[in-house]
Amino acid sequence: MGATPMAEPRTRIALITGASRGIGAETARLLGTRGHHVIINYREKQRRARDVAATVAAAGGSACTVRADITDTADITDTADVTAMFDEIRARHGRLDALVLNASGGLEVGADPGYAMRVNRDAPNRLVDAALPLLAPGSRIVFVTSHQAHFVARRDVPAAYRPVAESKRAGEDDMRCRATELAEHGIGLSIVSGDMVDGTIVVRLLQRRDPAAVAARRAALPLPTVTEFATAVADEAARPGTEARTVFVGGSDYLTEDLTFTQ
Ligand SMILES: NC(=O)c1ccc[n+]([C@@H]2O[C@H](COP(=O)([O-])OP(=O)(O)OC[C@H]3O[C@@H](n4cnc5c(N)ncnc54)[C@H](OP(=O)(O)O)[C@@H]3O)[C@@H](O)[C@H]2O)c1
Repeated sequence: MGATPMAEPRTRIALITGASRGIGAETARLLGTRGHHVIINYREKQRRARDVAATVAAAGGSACTVRADITDTADITDTADVTAMFDEIRARHGRLDALVLNASGGLEVGADPGYAMRVNRDAPNRLVDAALPLLAPGSRIVFVTSHQAHFVARRDVPAAYRPVAESKRAGEDDMRCRATELAEHGIGLSIVSGDMVDGTIVVRLLQRRDPAAVAARRAALPLPTVTEFATAVADEAARPGTEARTVFVGGSDYLTEDLTFTQ
């Protein structure tokens, strides 16, 4: 009798929101090179998203792109974006193994006062609701955030960033409140929080609006690079088990404070 053939490990399918640039794009590249099929969500920068997918393919991985405004406010198709995105994922792949909640906003010129909460708290909740029927046991949700948001109750933040920080912290808290519900579905949860990340557009914008805030962080410690932060996000996306955990990248000075309340 011949040996029983080993089952091929199945390809993990990862949806990364806001992956047309920055940390999301780098996370997509990393997961693609590690053998995941990556679904690159973007809001409007289709060409950039396609370039990210092409880079993944050139490195031997597989990727596709899907447009959706996660807040559904820039709907140009007359169909709710988030619903349409998950309908497409269901039809093409039938399941998801990782949902990386990376897209974020609130600093956009002309954004209304409620936008930060819609994009950073309400949209992640809605994405989780929509993804739940597709997320297989053994899958993981990763919520990407910043130290300025995670520690907003403890540390001062630049005035321009406060609505973003407060709304991201609210989104993070909502995710953590859902950890038991997720674990019951066999889904793990990771919160990945980073210091300002060198080379990102957000930090370049902040540098223009509030140079002292960026200079203060640089003086404290070297800032993490996009690759360092995205590596932590990709590691969590591939992590097995239903444990809920929080991972910090850079900014170890934040961590020397008493965190029992905020963690
Ligand atoms: N930058 C930092 O220093 C830093 C530090 C710590 C944590 N983080 C966190 O890391 C994550 C990524 O940051 P980043 O600096 O790489 O961001 P970014 O360069 O501003 O990229 C934002 C991405 O999100 C997409 N996006 C924005 N609004 C969207 C919406 N309503 N619907 C769908 N997609 C939307 C954009 O798509 P389009 O281009 O198509 O519009 C783009 O792909 C965020 O959660 C951020 O808080 C960043």
